[in-house]
Amino acid sequence: GADDTVPLRRQDLIPRAPRAAARSAVAPFSVRMPVPQELRPAWSGPDHDLYKIAVKPANLEILPGLTTPLLTYGGTFVGPTIRARTGRPAKVVFVNQLDRPTNVHLHGAHVPAVSDGHPMETIDPGRFRSYDYPNAQQGTTLWYHDHSHHMEAEHVYRGLHGMYVIDDPAERRLRLPDGPYDVPIFLRNAQFDENGGLVFFSPYDRTTILANGRPQPYFPVAARKYRFRLVNGANEYTFRLTLGGAEFQQIASDGGLLPAPVPLTELVLGSAQRADIVVDFARYPVGTQVVLTDAASGAPVLRFDVVRQAWDDSRVPDVLRPLPPMPAATVRREVSMRFGYTETDVFGLVNDKQFDPNRVDFRIKRGDTEIWTLTNGDSDQGIEHTFHMHLVQFRVLDRNGAPPRPWDAGLKDTIQLPPNETVRVQATFRNYLGRYVYHCHYLEHSSLGMMAQMEVVP
Ligand code: C2O
Ligand code: CU
Repeated sequence: GADDTVPLRRQDLIPRAPRAAARSAVAPFSVRMPVPQELRPAWSGPDHDLYKIAVKPANLEILPGLTTPLLTYGGTFVGPTIRARTGRPAKVVFVNQLDRPTNVHLHGAHVPAVSDGHPMETIDPGRFRSYDYPNAQQGTTLWYHDHSHHMEAEHVYRGLHGMYVIDDPAERRLRLPDGPYDVPIFLRNAQFDENGGLVFFSPYDRTTILANGRPQPYFPVAARKYRFRLVNGANEYTFRLTLGGAEFQQIASDGGLLPAPVPLTELVLGSAQRADIVVDFARYPVGTQVVLTDAASGAPVLRFDVVRQAWDDSRVPDVLRPLPPMPAATVRREVSMRFGYTETDVFGLVNDKQFDPNRVDFRIKRGDTEIWTLTNGDSDQGIEHTFHMHLVQFRVLDRNGAPPRPWDAGLKDTIQLPPNETVRVQATFRNYLGRYVYHCHYLEHSSLGMMAQMEVVP
């Protein structure tokens, strides 16, 4: 009866995404890591490439011997990789063959508002929508995912994610590893039931790390340099990636190349962030197994098996690409993210308001450079948030007054916002007009309304 009801604790209301990854559903290194298929254009015109992707359910083998029902792009998990080129626009037609509305956001891309996958602009079942991607930005590693309001956490968790690489002719002279030695790796975690089904919102006690959609796989490599484009597609998880203490070079972050390679022994990669790293396997004899480990959980992510010698004329030059100049900021704003509660419910809030698609929270003049001070309003609850802004790449000016850490450096679109940290970011709104969202990229949080809207005006 009502008298026995245990009062809800606030924390119990917050949906929990997979966090711990120590207990996996399978023995590690039992399957090989695939590289998601590169999508061929359906048509190539004089001034753009046209791609077509069906958004559809599929039953696929993720854990050996079991079938997992998924939502997919093109019937694969992870979805197909689009390889675009700076200066060459792409048009991507997504055909919704699901039983529910969906939409697509190209995370980290500078695109016109109408093609940004605004949370309210969804594609009904049986319909399609064509998104225009100008690819006018510098080369980088992006990813595309569902962004339908209130549903993005579940849809992305169930498989609506894929990678999108912009190759930049201006970077060819650097002679970084390319071709088969340039490998995108999509990282996330998931919890499976005993039949292989994905469990969404649970105690998450047996979370499994997936690399390119397979559990803790192995990947044969040659004894030479590789460029790995790491994407953290987990709804809510920060990887701390190590190679058993061995050094590797970070060469790019969310928005493209860093000015110079950064030697690291650990890379912190939060939800939705990307980092390109170069690992040189030439230092290992053939037969060596090198494990990429998530130091946050102690779980292995992926094992590189050095299986052969190979010719290597690639390099990692000392100077990569200068960052674009930062004009002086003329506008300052504050953004705080937290949860709000009623007796029985919980809401995501940005500056104390739940997302309202009919409200514009910030009006921004095109051409302006702004500094946003970001704070975590849940510090007393110990809850971590993240911050992601559409439309632009920003720069981290400082974190708690200190210079950006390596993983905050360069062109960024997503950063961590742990309790008691304040981050200042600076962005210039150069290109497009219209309404774009900014939000917490813990998708369980944004699904509850931890999202707001800016409008860029002339
Ligand atoms: Cu990757 Cu608004 O999101
Ligand atoms: Cu959050």
